[in-house]
Amino acid sequence: MKRLTVPAVRDRKAKIAAGTGEPLVMLTAYTVRMAQLMDPHCDLLLVGDSLGQVIYGLPSTVPVTLEMMAAHAAAVVRGSYHAVVVVDMPFGSYEGSPQQAFDSAAYLMKQSGAAAVKLEGGVAMAPTVAFLSERGIPVMGHVGLTPQAVNALGGYGARGRSQAEADKIVGDARAVAEAGAFAVVIEGVVEPIAIEITKAVTVPTIGIGASAQCDGQVLVAEDMLGLFERVPRFVKRYGDMAAFVAERAEAYAAEVRSRAFPTDEQTYAPR
Ligand code: KIV
Ligand code: NA
Repeated sequence: MKRLTVPAVRDRKAKIAAGTGEPLVMLTAYTVRMAQLMDPHCDLLLVGDSLGQVIYGLPSTVPVTLEMMAAHAAAVVRGSYHAVVVVDMPFGSYEGSPQQAFDSAAYLMKQSGAAAVKLEGGVAMAPTVAFLSERGIPVMGHVGLTPQAVNALGGYGARGRSQAEADKIVGDARAVAEAGAFAVVIEGVVEPIAIEITKAVTVPTIGIGASAQCDGQVLVAEDMLGLFERVPRFVKRYGDMAAFVAERAEAYAAEVRSRAFPTDEQTYAPR
């Protein structure tokens, strides 16, 4: 199977909007084996900066570095052959100027082989989205609840409950789409905003805590698998991997302590 391309993803919008194309499927992946397992089922794999909390136990995505993102993105590219791999630009690596963003994005793409980057923000980031897009770097936007701005937003609650906030989020999405983003993630907004944006922009919208009417959906894989302990209400759990892991660790521990493991089967005979 040939790897999907960014233009192919962008061009899916027309068919999805017309009701003749399937929604886009995106999951996060941070490691090679998870990428291998999810890749055949996904259009896009996102190396999200959510790895800060999920993999590293950090309190937010704010401390995540370019080096962390590059290392995990390289593993995900090595573990995938079908999906478009998108890598998050971490906080502090792109907001300063379009030039800073270009240098950071080029570093991520060179180190990892990822096909695209994602950055958070709207009107203020539109010139940066244009700068990168015009220089061969496909950019995915991310509006609404933007976790890197947690210190300014004051938390992770849904956005867009006031008319002013709703208008700002719609304006943000339009700005990044018009600046050349090939798709836009809409996170944690009241549903009418997600629907309005999906109708307003000509590129696919990918929802998370947004609306079933978005052009695609994304979840953090560990949330969806029931592995990560704290999950927002928009997560549907498709499994209970935490219980699976804990039960197997308990069984292994019991067998080591009772000397039931290893047996002859797991032991090398002298000849
Ligand atoms: O970092 C991440 O996992 C994300 C998705 C939740 C969209 O940005
Ligand atoms: Na992210």
